[in-house]
Amino acid sequence: MLEELDEIYEHSLRDLTITPTISELEKWYKRNLGRKGQVTELTRQVGQVSQEDRPTFGRRVNEIKQNLENAYEKRLADLKAAELDSLLVFDSIDVTLPGRRQLRGRLHPSTQILREIYRIWGDMGFQVYRSRDVETDEFNFELLNIPEDHPARDMWDTFHTTTPGVILRTHTSPGQIHAMREYCPEPIRVILPGMCYRYEQITARSEIQFNQVEGLAVGRYITMADLKGTLTDFAKRIFGKERATRFRANYFPFTEPSAEMDVECILCNGSGCQVCQYTGWLEILGCGMVHPTVLRNGGYDPDVYSGFAFGMGPERIAMLKYGIDDIRYFWANDLRFLEQF
Ligand code: PHE
Repeated sequence: MLEELDEIYEHSLRDLTITPTISELEKWYKRNLGRKGQVTELTRQVGQVSQEDRPTFGRRVNEIKQNLENAYEKRLADLKAAELDSLLVFDSIDVTLPGRRQLRGRLHPSTQILREIYRIWGDMGFQVYRSRDVETDEFNFELLNIPEDHPARDMWDTFHTTTPGVILRTHTSPGQIHAMREYCPEPIRVILPGMCYRYEQITARSEIQFNQVEGLAVGRYITMADLKGTLTDFAKRIFGKERATRFRANYFPFTEPSAEMDVECILCNGSGCQVCQYTGWLEILGCGMVHPTVLRNGGYDPDVYSGFAFGMGPERIAMLKYGIDDIRYFWANDLRFLEQF
């Protein structure tokens, strides 16, 4: 009887040491120490043992029961610790991994070049004046000395709204009239930036929408020398001191005399290349002395006041500065282009 007891004890102890998981351990407990477990059953058999063996048997059963209980507690603690260890290994967070980087937005290249242009004109005492994108025929053309049947209108074909006479502006020049009418008779030094629209075939060199920065200075004794000096200074500030500039006579209905300003080609330094069409020069803006009719339309007496005006294309300037060969990139929203700025 006592031998059988030891055999059961050893057997269940061996079983215990190889329980692989906590749930297997619980099954072991039920089999051995549960209400109907084999060791529990043994304690009930004490009564069947002979009188003389009964105390030894009883003591031994209790001993075994206690040992197994202790062994169970220990095994449970070991399994719990092992489970935690493996969790720490397999479920761990590697705090040394680099984090996922937040993508940062940036300013559109047109906005960047516009801000650079504002800063330069700001340094020269010019204020930013905003005027509307949707204009009337009167402001876009007529008040700028371009009557209905004037051939110069061919240069500025535009988009018409369903309201007769209301169009999208083809240039920022109508802003000249708005500014003059607001400031007259005070002197003016403003730049007028903003989007312009033209009904054109879209090519590498022309878009149906683009920015312009208009400039206007009105006051007493303003001469062509002021125009040339100011614009030459601007070109040197934006393209660098060494960059040569030149003025060429041109025609605009709202300025007289009119000119275009060129800068020495940035790509070939004036020696001639494909971009400058082997002239060594690149055109960057139109300009001139404000036409007397336009001054009068703005409220200024052309016998007392004079002024100069200019209009430049910031996208053109950005193209020259950064060697961009296609204006369509600006509004194509291709991140491969935009991310370079
Ligand atoms: N408005 C002209 C254009 O769009 C540019 C210009 C502005 C010329 C002011 C002279 C004076 O081409």
